[in-house]
Amino acid sequence: MTFRARHLLGIEPLHPLEITTLLDLADTYVDLNRRTIKHSDALAGMTQINMFFENSTRTQASFELAGKRLGADVMNMSVSQSSVKKGETLIDTAMTLNAMHPDLLVVRHQNSGAVNQLAEKVNCAVLNAGDGKHEHPTQALLDALTIRRAKGRLHRLTVAICGDIAHSRVARSNLILLGKMENRVRLIGPPTLMPAGVAEFGCEVYDDMKAGLEGADVVMMLRLQKERMDGAFIPSEREYYHRYGLDAEKLAFAKEDAIVMHPGPMNRGVEIDGTLADDINRSVIQEQVEMGVAVRMAAMDLLARNLKAHRGAEAAGEH
Ligand code: NCD
Repeated sequence: MTFRARHLLGIEPLHPLEITTLLDLADTYVDLNRRTIKHSDALAGMTQINMFFENSTRTQASFELAGKRLGADVMNMSVSQSSVKKGETLIDTAMTLNAMHPDLLVVRHQNSGAVNQLAEKVNCAVLNAGDGKHEHPTQALLDALTIRRAKGRLHRLTVAICGDIAHSRVARSNLILLGKMENRVRLIGPPTLMPAGVAEFGCEVYDDMKAGLEGADVVMMLRLQKERMDGAFIPSEREYYHRYGLDAEKLAFAKEDAIVMHPGPMNRGVEIDGTLADDINRSVIQEQVEMGVAVRMAAMDLLARNLKAHRGAEAAGEH
């Protein structure tokens, strides 16, 4: 078994071997992306449509670049100028685009579960670029590749995920992936920002940064997702920074060679000190962005191979 999935909807359905296969292929795309000529023809002749119903800088740009570097025709649907503004539903919009024969559909949507629902209706490969508070699989995969390259392995590491866990699909996908690969995950944040039922994930929960960071190999900071909060979850940003903002003093409790991660966009001075975020000796935030393009190339390459095989088998069955 290498990589059998037809869609990339979340980390949950993936086997650890599928994760390793994808990361190994992504490593080869990191090399390609560092060359002057970055083209491959893995998606030549195929059509990729990006549908982003929520704002995005990194994810949309890297999916677009990834598709173009693999030779696909890439179209970005601009939601703000589309018929969604006239009340068209997600499924109707997707079915309209499906009729134009895309091969890959990349979707970000504010509702948890929306991308899974859509995948059942269309006949192309669907990639989840973030659905509500549910999953953000390519983010967890790019984080995993960043960790594997910085630490030389992706197992038996202590990873501290800190901040707004409750609203974060990044935390959820990472938690699942890191657990599958047999790492120790600690969640750190105020009780108001911890999701209900967090104990089920088999991780340790801390509300004190220093205790939670003790001996960590990786420190992953999260943005306070104010757009997903419908009340007051923290007393004030100043107080939050004092208790949970990562600075050099708090980082000193982690291992000496611990790396600092953040999926972006960052709120400097809220969850992370700006100087620390820019410190190339500790922070791998720019590497995460670089790995993002390679991981998305690997994911689309593998899904395209499965799609071709599936369509080939279907056509053979018809005759
Ligand atoms: C994250 C997201 O959209 O879930 N960003 C990203 O994809 N790089 C995290 C966030 O918005 O804070």
